[in-house]
Amino acid sequence: MIHFDEQTQTFHLKNSKISYLLAIEENNYLAHLYFGKAIKHYSGGYQYPRTDRSFSPNAPTSTDRLLSLDTLPMEYPGHGFGDFREPAYNIKLPNGSRINDFRYDSHEIQQGKPKLEGLPALYTESESEAETLVIDLKDPITGLKLKLFYSIYEEYAAVIRSVQLVNETSETVEINQLASQSLDFPNRKLELIHLNGTWGRERQLTREEVQTGIKILDSKRGSSSHQQNPFVALVEPHTTEFQGEAYGFNLVYSGNHETTIEKDPFDQTRLVMGINSFNFSWQLEQDARFQTPEVVMVYSDKGLNELSHTYHDLYNQRLVRGKHRLQERPTLINNWEATYFDFNEEKIMNIVDEAKKLGIEMFVLDDGWFGNREDDYTSLGDWVETEGKLACGLEKLAKNIKNEGMKFGIWFEPEMISKDSDLFRAHPDWALGVPGHGRSLSRSQYVLDFSREDVRDNIYQQMKAIFDRVPIDYVKWDMNRNMTEVYSVLLAADQQGEVAHRYMLGFYEFLEKLTTEYPDILFESCSGGGGRFDAGLLYYMPQTWTSDNTDAVARLKIQYGTSMVYPISSMGAHVSAVPNHQTGRNTSLETRGNAAMAGVFGYELDLTQLTAEEKDEIRDQAKFYKKHRQLFQYGTFYRLESPFEGNDTAWMFVSKDQSEAMVFYFRVLAEAAHPLVTLKLAGLDEEAIYCMDEREMGGDELMNLGFYMDSELHGDYVTQRFYLQKV
Ligand code: GLA
Repeated sequence: MIHFDEQTQTFHLKNSKISYLLAIEENNYLAHLYFGKAIKHYSGGYQYPRTDRSFSPNAPTSTDRLLSLDTLPMEYPGHGFGDFREPAYNIKLPNGSRINDFRYDSHEIQQGKPKLEGLPALYTESESEAETLVIDLKDPITGLKLKLFYSIYEEYAAVIRSVQLVNETSETVEINQLASQSLDFPNRKLELIHLNGTWGRERQLTREEVQTGIKILDSKRGSSSHQQNPFVALVEPHTTEFQGEAYGFNLVYSGNHETTIEKDPFDQTRLVMGINSFNFSWQLEQDARFQTPEVVMVYSDKGLNELSHTYHDLYNQRLVRGKHRLQERPTLINNWEATYFDFNEEKIMNIVDEAKKLGIEMFVLDDGWFGNREDDYTSLGDWVETEGKLACGLEKLAKNIKNEGMKFGIWFEPEMISKDSDLFRAHPDWALGVPGHGRSLSRSQYVLDFSREDVRDNIYQQMKAIFDRVPIDYVKWDMNRNMTEVYSVLLAADQQGEVAHRYMLGFYEFLEKLTTEYPDILFESCSGGGGRFDAGLLYYMPQTWTSDNTDAVARLKIQYGTSMVYPISSMGAHVSAVPNHQTGRNTSLETRGNAAMAGVFGYELDLTQLTAEEKDEIRDQAKFYKKHRQLFQYGTFYRLESPFEGNDTAWMFVSKDQSEAMVFYFRVLAEAAHPLVTLKLAGLDEEAIYCMDEREMGGDELMNLGFYMDSELHGDYVTQRFYLQKV
């Protein structure tokens, strides 16, 4: 998979799908050559043409006027010696200089893929399925060392990159930026796709031309955020879901992140991605190392669907870990929108009884079971059940539910502390905050300083006390505000720029410990819905609550955008009551059910308030979903019609062996004399015959000719569903 050509000094990472080429240039600079479709026979002759460009200084120690770092595509660019584009690193030396002139020093090709200490990362099951190239760059003057990691799997069209800075000098240096990767694209017309939004409107897809100048997409919120997901794609202008080249970049990290896209006047595009450099500084002592999170770069020459398939397969197979990996996930009923804080044992058991009758497999007790938590002003940090709220007690409630043959899940928000809590009264310094300054409240709560071991230990012990007593199958791990006043009283003044990342390291350490001690529990992460939907968390928690917005129409966009990178098996999707609590919209149960089937399916409403007909419909939906959930959760997902481009949305699932498929169509608004709609399918076996609604049709027919949607579809928010089975 990884080959080094001594003669041309070129590294070639390749499998049957992709090639990644980089070379040691004159003066030992590491230059980027290519990332794209596999090249079987590379001659070794590709080199950036030498040109004398005015105001582009020549490389230091070089007398060649034709060589400038300002124009050379660089693997891991710095600043200060001629490259005026965005750098990948910024390191302050003891003498105040930031000039770090890293040159190739040595390399090693390793079997498998090394673990990233303390950080989530893709893994291997056997050493032979991947290889890793580690290139050491060294500054000959200071002795600082950069290790660049490149891993490639035999099977996937992906290269995974990360960087380690090793301080082999005799003094402390200060890191102000250390990106996970940088990639240069010489002279190409490209478009940028990214996923942005806000609470209730996560991962909206934006596509725009890459123009001259610099664009930064980032989060400074202490979490990956609702606002800007740590994923971007660069595509060609003609790239669609089914054709054209696409490059995806996804940071495996849940904290502050930054992606910089720069197009220079020579039409070269550079994309730098990593931990956000804003307010970031890290004191790296002698002999210490700093490891960046990794970026999963995926290439597709068949459009965005294929790009997503690679991410979905890779994440299902080699990011998600543990017992629940590749397992069918349970359908659930969550009491949040049914009761909010106002519940008691009787209300809960009535919902449970109804759920059981309707074939739902798990009950999740949401917020409000601990401390004095009758509203969201209080008690975060006091993880002791409210006495008397559940007459029989939490343990008994869980046991009763399990005796009914259902699973039991529960809500926690471990990283938070309410101002009104025993924990805050006892330890006011445990919340992030600058001594002497006030702290900003958000949802009446503060953020616990998870960079501190004592804080983590306390919360761990509190959770453990519940986990060891109550039979818990599932945990919803919430996080309902972003960080402000990011300051830790235990750290020195010059270390305050480390707090946000130290928080993440502490958080990951906590999750590693908890998920190792309780391997049977299925964890779903959440942050006011999908405010922390990222690959970092999927390493510890296989599912994420996609959005607090459960409106079926809003969900079309949210789920469509999320599916660009994250697998369907990771997306919590529930049917809730109408009028919808977030948008006030009324949609049919059928539309709500069909939308939620593109995810891990559940309900979030008061089942006891439904009519007999509604219950019948829910019973059928749950049965249908469970029957086909292997296909929904682990089949290949094709986006057919985009909600961002028109009134219609369509997507489908195809089983890995192409023996069956499920197609969903949604029309948002009714129109008189609606034009006829044909749907062309994808991913089927073109040699096979499929049976759909008792009609037999060829796979090639369904994909090329397609079929007409019902022309009598009337009303707003309508849907159709088709099941296909190979004959
Ligand atoms: C967040 C979650 C919701 C619910 C509430 C409880 O907003 O996203 O699903 O759990 O918290 O307070």
